[in-house]
Amino acid sequence: MHRHQNIRDNLISKYSSLVDDEKKFANFINLPLKQSFRVNTLKEEKEIVLDKLKEYDPKIKTTEWNDNAHISELDNLGSSLEHFVGHIYIQELTSMIPPLVVKDLMKNISIIDCCAAPGSKTTQMAAMMENKGHIIANDARHVRLKSLRGNLDRLGVTNTSVTLRDFKSFPNTKADLYFVDAPCSSEGTIRKKNSVARNWREKDYIRFNKLQKGLLGKACEMAPSGSTVVYSTCTFSPDENEKVVSDILNKHDMKMKKINIKNLKSEPGITKWNNETYNSEVEKCMRVWPHHNDTDAFFIARMEKC
Ligand SMILES: C[S@@+](CC[C@H](N)C(=O)[O-])C[C@H]1O[C@@H](n2cnc3c(N)ncnc32)[C@H](O)[C@@H]1O
Repeated sequence: MHRHQNIRDNLISKYSSLVDDEKKFANFINLPLKQSFRVNTLKEEKEIVLDKLKEYDPKIKTTEWNDNAHISELDNLGSSLEHFVGHIYIQELTSMIPPLVVKDLMKNISIIDCCAAPGSKTTQMAAMMENKGHIIANDARHVRLKSLRGNLDRLGVTNTSVTLRDFKSFPNTKADLYFVDAPCSSEGTIRKKNSVARNWREKDYIRFNKLQKGLLGKACEMAPSGSTVVYSTCTFSPDENEKVVSDILNKHDMKMKKINIKNLKSEPGITKWNNETYNSEVEKCMRVWPHHNDTDAFFIARMEKC
C-alpha cells in the first residue's frame, strides 16, 4: 500500500470516534488542499493585489470567515511577481486562525512569538498591527531563522526583532501576548502533499507532549498578570492538545478564554481520551476538523494569566 495512504488510513481509524461525521472526515482527509494565501496589507491594498492575481486565476475565492484568506485553483502562486515582491504570503487557511483569535488585542502591543519560524503568523500579526508595537520572533533552530528573516524582509515587517533560543531557557521578558505555535506531530496537515512524514509511535507523542508542556509552561510562567497566552498546533492528537493545556491549567494560574470566529465551523476541546479525563475548562479550546471548512486541522487555546 502507498505509504501516505497508509498514514491517512491510520489517522482515520485513530480519530474517527472524536468526530461528528466519520464518513465526511474520512472523505476530506483523502482530498488534496488547494493553495491559499493572504494579501500583505503592509505593502499594498488587498483589492489591488486581488485584481492583479485574478488576471492569472479568475476563480480566486475569499473564505466566509476571514476576509483576507483566499483560495486559488493554481498551485504556483509562489512563483508570481506578487509573491516575489511581498504582496502575498502563501499560508494554509488554518494557520491564519491563531492570530485571528486575538484580533481584539492587535494594537500597539508587545508580543513574544516563542516558536516563530518561518514566520507565517509573525508576519500576519505584524500586518494586523500595521507595523506598530513590537514582536520578538524567536526560534530554536538556526536553519529556520533564515526563512524567518527572509519573510520579514520580503513582507516589509519593521516592528519585529529575531532571537535564536530554546524558548524553555528564554530570559524572563514581559509582554502583552505570548504566542506558542508549538512543534508537533503535524498530523492535521495530512491533506498537503508530502506532509506528515510518518506514522508516529506512542513514544513520539510523549516526547512532543513533554516539549510542548515545557514551552507553554515557560510562557505561562513569565506572563505577567492580565497578559494573554495562545497555544496552537496543527495536529489531531489530544496528547499534544487538550492534555497539554489541561496539565498547564492544573499547574499555573491561568484562566481559559472562550474563542469563536464568525462563520468558521469548529468544535470544542475534548475532555476524555485514552482513559484520561482532562480539566473541564479545555472545552473552551477550539478544534478545527478538515471536513468542517474544507481545510487542514488545527487546535487553538487562548488563556489569560490571573
Ligand atoms: C509549528 S512550527 C512554527 C511555525 C510558525 N509559528 C509559523 O507560523 O510560521 C514550530 C517551530 O518551533 C521551533 N522549535 C522547536 N523547539 C523549540 C524550542 N525549544 N524553542 C523554540 N522554538 C522551538 C521549530 O524550529 C519550528 O520552527
